[in-house]
Amino acid sequence: MGRKLVFTSGKGGVGKTTMCANIGIALSMLGHKVVMVDADIGLNNLDVVMCMENKVTYDIADVVDGKCRLKQALIEDVDFPGLFVLPSFHNYDTANFTASNFKSIIDTLAVGFDFVIIDCPAGIDAGFHRAVVAASEAYVVTTPHISAVRDADKVMALLNGYPLVNIGLVINRVRGDMVVLGDMMTAGDISRLLRCTPTGVVPDDDSITVKSDIMRHKLECEVKQALMMLAENISSGKRTVYDCTNDYRGVFGRWKAKVKKLF
Ligand SMILES: Nc1ncnc2c1ncn2[C@@H]1O[C@H](COP(=O)(O)OP(=O)(O)O)[C@@H](O)[C@H]1O
Ligand SMILES: [Mg+2]
Repeated sequence: MGRKLVFTSGKGGVGKTTMCANIGIALSMLGHKVVMVDADIGLNNLDVVMCMENKVTYDIADVVDGKCRLKQALIEDVDFPGLFVLPSFHNYDTANFTASNFKSIIDTLAVGFDFVIIDCPAGIDAGFHRAVVAASEAYVVTTPHISAVRDADKVMALLNGYPLVNIGLVINRVRGDMVVLGDMMTAGDISRLLRCTPTGVVPDDDSITVKSDIMRHKLECEVKQALMMLAENISSGKRTVYDCTNDYRGVFGRWKAKVKKLF
């Protein structure tokens, strides 16, 4: 039986879909069989981030309605055999899309895959419940901004009410230059506030804006190292997180950070 992971957050736009796509690719690079499921109904970003939107023939609504078999709705990645996406739908009367229908799809997938990764919608309503109830582990994604951390705290409290085997924390979009100058909360500050050790710390990196599925691309950048460390931590239980202040240590590093702040 594969592991069922949900990436969630209170606040939208903190990087859940980006994490799902890139951790899915990274776990596949580590040799695991992975399926990513888009539970963000109506917004269906995961297939877009994975560059699969033109390949969608059937989606999860067709599976729920019995219009196709689950296998037919899965799209395999062109670069990574064994990595699949189950796309969400644009418009749908959600009556059939109950938490128990969704959970049974996830449980079926978990039989054939090492990891089932669920991209949760923002907020804490029915969509959140549907995604979390189907999972066995949850990773709360936050950025180092107070509104996101406050929402992450609320979500962590809610997650404690579900029978999850693990609740992890991913701190995304950390700016090492701002951290050394005291202009941004550190990963340690956030970890203390949320009373949770981070499973991963990911730097803010413009290369993600250009290529959201950054792990797929042959490019040397710090965000790829951080994402790979996060995937290894998830896969092996290790807790080595990326230090986003690496480039800004010492006198020269602080000078670099100050120059960056000026321009
Ligand atoms: N580490 C990062 N560095 C820079 N941009 C990022 C990073 N993580 C996410 N983003 C950007 O933030 C935006 C929101 O990300 P997304 O994954 O769609 O968030 P969510 O799914 O939580 O709404 C996207 O434009 C994405 O490219
Ligand atoms: Mg999203």
